[in-house]
Amino acid sequence: MAETEALSKLREDFRMQNKSVFILGASGETGRVLLKEILEQGLFSKVTLIGRRKLTFDEEAYKNVNQEVVDFEKLDDYASAFQGHDVGFCCLGTTRVKAGAICISVLEHSWDLSSVMGTMDYREV
Ligand SMILES: NC(=O)c1ccc[n+]([C@@H]2O[C@H](COP(=O)([O-])OP(=O)(O)OC[C@H]3O[C@@H](n4cnc5c(N)ncnc54)[C@H](OP(=O)(O)O)[C@@H]3O)[C@@H](O)[C@H]2O)c1
Repeated sequence: MAETEALSKLREDFRMQNKSVFILGASGETGRVLLKEILEQGLFSKVTLIGRRKLTFDEEAYKNVNQEVVDFEKLDDYASAFQGHDVGFCCLGTTRVKAGAICISVLEHSWDLSSVMGTMDYREV
């Protein structure tokens, strides 16, 4: 019980900080689940999807989601899409199971995200 209350307080404290987040790869299986969870939890005041194409959502819960379309081969040209966010999640790539022998990732593509990330809290899943 005390643990649940502590978690609730942590969530509320985090919400009060009005943090922003971006998600790379929100159209994929992993990114879709992450996006849904982030929206359900309501932890971030701003949610941005960064991808190579714009996504369509019918659900009301997605109406305030921002979207930025970028060319991953020219990331430096799209630095502004990443800026202004406190947290970033990368769900790019694909699973080996689905793609047979192919598993792409940010590293395998040599996409250098460091110049566009600044000092934000950035995680690859
Ligand atoms: N930590 C974990 O427990 C866990 C579990 C499962 C997967 N993963 C990892 O999560 C990553 C994604 O897996 P997934 O199953 O979600 O894959 P997925 O369903 O195939 O989704 C891949 C995502 O990456 C994007 N993408 C792929 N190639 C791209 C490219 N060349 N340029 C721009 N965007 C590209 C796709 O965009 P489009 O829709 O535009 O194609 C899509 O949003 C993989 O690295 C996987 O290993 C981690």
